[in-house]
Amino acid sequence: MSIIKLLSKKLDRIIFTTPSHNQKAVFSQEYTSFYKQDYSEIDGFDNLQNPVNSILMAQGKVSDILKTKQTFFVVQGATTAILAAMKALIKPSERVLVARNCHKTVFSGLILTGGVVDWFMPETDEKWGIYTKIDPKKLESTLELNQYKVFIMTSPTYEGVNSDINEISKVCKKHNVYLIVDEAHGALYNFSDKLPKTAIEQGADVSVNSLHKTAGALNQTAVLNISNTINNVDVTVFQAALNLFQTTSPSYPLLSNIEACFNFLNSKDGKKEIDNLILEIEKTKSELKRFGVEFYDDENHDSTKILLRKNGISGFDLSDSLFNEFNIEDEMTNQNSCLFLSGIGTTRQKLDKLKQALKKIQTNPSFEFENIDFQPYPIVKLQPVETFNRNFIYVNKNNSLLKISNKMILPYPPGIGLLYPGEAIQKWHLTYLNNDVEVIA
Ligand SMILES: Cc1ncc(COP(=O)(O)O)c(C=O)c1O
Repeated sequence: MSIIKLLSKKLDRIIFTTPSHNQKAVFSQEYTSFYKQDYSEIDGFDNLQNPVNSILMAQGKVSDILKTKQTFFVVQGATTAILAAMKALIKPSERVLVARNCHKTVFSGLILTGGVVDWFMPETDEKWGIYTKIDPKKLESTLELNQYKVFIMTSPTYEGVNSDINEISKVCKKHNVYLIVDEAHGALYNFSDKLPKTAIEQGADVSVNSLHKTAGALNQTAVLNISNTINNVDVTVFQAALNLFQTTSPSYPLLSNIEACFNFLNSKDGKKEIDNLILEIEKTKSELKRFGVEFYDDENHDSTKILLRKNGISGFDLSDSLFNEFNIEDEMTNQNSCLFLSGIGTTRQKLDKLKQALKKIQTNPSFEFENIDFQPYPIVKLQPVETFNRNFIYVNKNNSLLKISNKMILPYPPGIGLLYPGEAIQKWHLTYLNNDVEVIA
């Protein structure tokens, strides 16, 4: 029986198990609907750590849809799925190549696995101030230098830039390197011809999708996908790795929400909703282009990620005006541009409000955009595994140059580190640091 059906049946049973609340909102009626289906792994329900029944079936169905060897449901976000993927593939002291624009959870994964990191710098676009693609040729020359176990990268980026995973996976396979793609922002790709192909379809060994970012599911829902073509790995190691990090009391409402999400995405209605969304975005864009609004675009760009800038106004001022005058909040802003995310649930009305606001916003004809600088290659003094729970001292910012940071500089979003513990403080970091800087003793 599906997880959804299991939860929809009235349970005619007296249960003396966790959770204690008896499926009733005990202290606040506001949460009534949360409580109703909040069971734990009681008799007849399945077990996320060793699924044999409804969870196994639901995962199998999604695996068929996504054409994977195995797909695992995750109720603690893409964060946990990435940690598990890393734990499954990386042993202590094995070399790992990581694209510098990865989410900070990859740094946590390096601490937890003991992997030895080299950072790989993706291409950049100074005009928009964003990381763009991984250059397969540059990757190939890097993989020739050392034997890496795994290459970890993000595609799409937050801003919807997709790398050529097809080429990248060929390069990785040639060099015997596992490819993990953080596809947290690409959960819709399997369901529309108007979006890029999935990382798994293009040859990645492992991918991770977040379902709450674009696919209309609840916060913390995610899946971990293992490819049919992964070599020399017993897939059970991914279950074992997930079991290290995932709760033993998974939320059934979240599990059934994952099942329902894929049922919808894979239905006619779901596919239609994605295609309509893309159509509405394209219409909005073509109208706004006549009002001095420019949109980021490139080959294979994910059009649900609306990255724009308006002539005559900085990204920060545009973001402030939208918020203060029109009650519209963007996802992320930089000096030049603003990012608006959309997905299942983004209505035409919502896009219309954005469109009307963007038309009206006042601009200053003498304002000129400037190119945005990117972080240089980091200086790694201590490996991530050596940095956790270290003794530290405070030094004045003016004396901190080339000392080893005990802290991250992490603008969020996007959660990409500008400085991680174990890295030397460089001159360009100083503007981000407080007067007292934590350095490793
Ligand atoms: C690229 C990327 N990967 C992973 C994550 C973590 O996802 P979650 O919030 O589902 O744990 C995020 C969150 O912002 C992200 O942007």
